Amino acid sequence: MQRITFNMQEPPKECEGAHRAWEWWITATEEEKAVARRQMDEKNEEFIKSECKRLLTPKTWKKSMWPAGKEIRFCFRDWDYTLQADHETAKAVACQAKALSDKIIAGSTDNAAFIGGTGCGKTSLAIAILTACRKHSMPCMVLSTAELVSSLDSSYGYDDARRQIAKVEKAAVDCSVLLLDDLGVEGGPQIKPVRRDMAQLMYRISNARLDKATLVTTNNTPAELGRMYDERIVSRLIPKNKGQIVDMRGLDDVRGK
Ligand SMILES: Nc1ncnc2c1ncn2[C@@H]1O[C@H](COP(=O)(O)OP(=O)(O)O)[C@@H](O)[C@H]1O
Ligand SMILES: [Mg+2]
Repeated sequence: MQRITFNMQEPPKECEGAHRAWEWWITATEEEKAVARRQMDEKNEEFIKSECKRLLTPKTWKKSMWPAGKEIRFCFRDWDYTLQADHETAKAVACQAKALSDKIIAGSTDNAAFIGGTGCGKTSLAIAILTACRKHSMPCMVLSTAELVSSLDSSYGYDDARRQIAKVEKAAVDCSVLLLDDLGVEGGPQIKPVRRDMAQLMYRISNARLDKATLVTTNNTPAELGRMYDERIVSRLIPKNKGQIVDMRGLDDVRGK
C-alpha cells in the first residue's frame, strides 16, 4: 500500500484531541508508530470492505420479504438434477432458467413464470436468476406473497407498519428484477379472491413494472390465478410466450432430500 508521508505540524492547543495525538506521535518510537500504522491500515481495510458491501447491496434487496422470513441463497451451480427422478426435465428447466437469466442480464424486460408443485425447485431456480443478475449489479428483490399478505393483515391500523409496506412497494416498483414468490398461496386451497388491499397493491406493482422484468413462481395455473386476482393483473404478470414459462409440473417434491 502506498503511504502518504508528511511532517506533522503542531495543532493548536485548543484542539485537545489532535494535540494529544500529535504529542504522542512526536514522542513515539518508530516501532510504536509502525504498530499504529498497521492498526490504521486494518481499520481502513475493514471500512473499505464494509462500504463496498453496502454499495453492492442495493436498497431494494434489503427490502425483500423472504418466505418464512429467511433469506435463501441459491445459484445455478447448486442445482442438482439427480435429485429428480426425471433427470432430463430437471436439466432442461435449469438450462431454460439459465437462458432466461442471460437474457435479462442482456437487457430483456420480459417476465417469466415458474409453474409446478411444491418443493420441485421453482423458488431455487428463480433465486439463481436473481443471484446471476445481482452479480451484474442489477437491483433485485424478492417478495413472498404470503409474507406480504400477512404483513398487510398485521399492519391494519398501525401507521408505522403501513409506512414500511409503502417502502416495500416502492422498492418492488424500482428494482430491475422482482421475484414474486409463490403467487397464489394467498388465495388458499379454495382459490378465493384475495383481500382487496393485496389485490390493489399487486395491481399497482404489476402496472408500474411493464418495462421491467418480473419473475413469478406459482403452484397455480393462470386460470386459478384469475379467480384470485383481476385478469389484468394475471395477464401483466404471467407471460403468454411459452419460452418465458418454465414448466416444472410433474417434477418431484425434493424438499429435505
Ligand atoms: N434440483 C435441486 N438441486 C438442489 N436443491 C434443490 C433442487 N430442487 C429443490 N432443491 C431444494 O429443495 C428445497 C425446496 O425447493 P424450492 O425451490 O423451495 O421449491 P418450490 O419453490 O418449488 O416449492 C430447497 O431447499 C431447495 O434448495
Ligand atoms: Mg417456492
